[in-house]
Amino acid sequence: MSELPARRVFVTRPIPAAGLELLAAAGAEVAVCPESLDGPQARDIAAGVAGADVLLSLLTETITAAQLDAAPHLLGVANYAVGHDNLDLAAATRLGIPVSNTPDVLTESTADLTWALLLGAARRVVEADRFMRRGKYRRWGPELLLGHDVSTGADGRRRVLGIIGFGRIGQAVARRATGFDVDVVAFHPRGAEAVDADLARAVSLSELLATSDFVSLHVPLTPATHHLIGAAELQAMKPTAVLVNTARGPVVDEAALVAALRDGTIAAAGLDVYEHEPAMAEGLAELANTVLLPHIGSASGSTRDAMARIAARNAVAMLRAEPAPECINPEVYATAAFARRRDRVTA
Ligand code: DGY
Repeated sequence: MSELPARRVFVTRPIPAAGLELLAAAGAEVAVCPESLDGPQARDIAAGVAGADVLLSLLTETITAAQLDAAPHLLGVANYAVGHDNLDLAAATRLGIPVSNTPDVLTESTADLTWALLLGAARRVVEADRFMRRGKYRRWGPELLLGHDVSTGADGRRRVLGIIGFGRIGQAVARRATGFDVDVVAFHPRGAEAVDADLARAVSLSELLATSDFVSLHVPLTPATHHLIGAAELQAMKPTAVLVNTARGPVVDEAALVAALRDGTIAAAGLDVYEHEPAMAEGLAELANTVLLPHIGSASGSTRDAMARIAARNAVAMLRAEPAPECINPEVYATAAFARRRDRVTA
């Protein structure tokens, strides 16, 4: 293997060994910011970025334009997540800094968890578990913990699953619907052409909200999707509807959701992400009609290892000033700003 022209990788929080080993094997000098309860402080990140050739960031760390601007030698940012709303991509691109993410490997695990939340919220699984543990189960009864059918109910009505955002994860969620025999409709912000007609029927957002029994969110967080689901959209949903969010918290106006769950505007919600993560909106934790998880969509050992390996491979390519395999702003490679960074280390 050829020598790395640049070596120093700053990792904002520990990642699985599978990734760190790859970095070490490539000859990188790895500095991992020590883990603490509150995570690294902004000043630790700023210092780490300033002294590194490549930054390997986690979704919990905000990477600002100012931090990137203060690192003229930085050859890239390898984000350990498919989402990249934690960093200023526009600033990175302007400054000639390649940014990469970890797509594909977490698609299936996140789609699995989406269905776990959908089923859990619809059939009150967590509430029923708590009921058991608290010793409240004294006698079976016809009205005990009634939930909502997911497959066609005994009433003969096919349920409708509405998927908002029909990228990789949205499609994987749709594929799983076959076994449940539900009708799948989808709204994709880029338009109906982005919806594979074999998996779902493309509809407008308003039709999806009005007709779906289950609404599942799979859009990235951008200024256009911030509070995509607010009071008006919740009001437009069926009173029996279940909302599932495994995308990003701020896609939903969480205070409006608490109000909607409290007053019966919608029936239930299954959430893996929060608007002000890790905090929850006031009142959310007290609602029985919610299933609340701590952002574990991709949390299987094999997925997290695969994410670590992808992030590490991207970081190694960046150290070599070569195109990163999962670069999300590949246009930077043609810019003078990138050439200046590359020439600084390869000259
Ligand atoms: C991501 O990668 O964006 C998920 O939210 C965490 O795996």
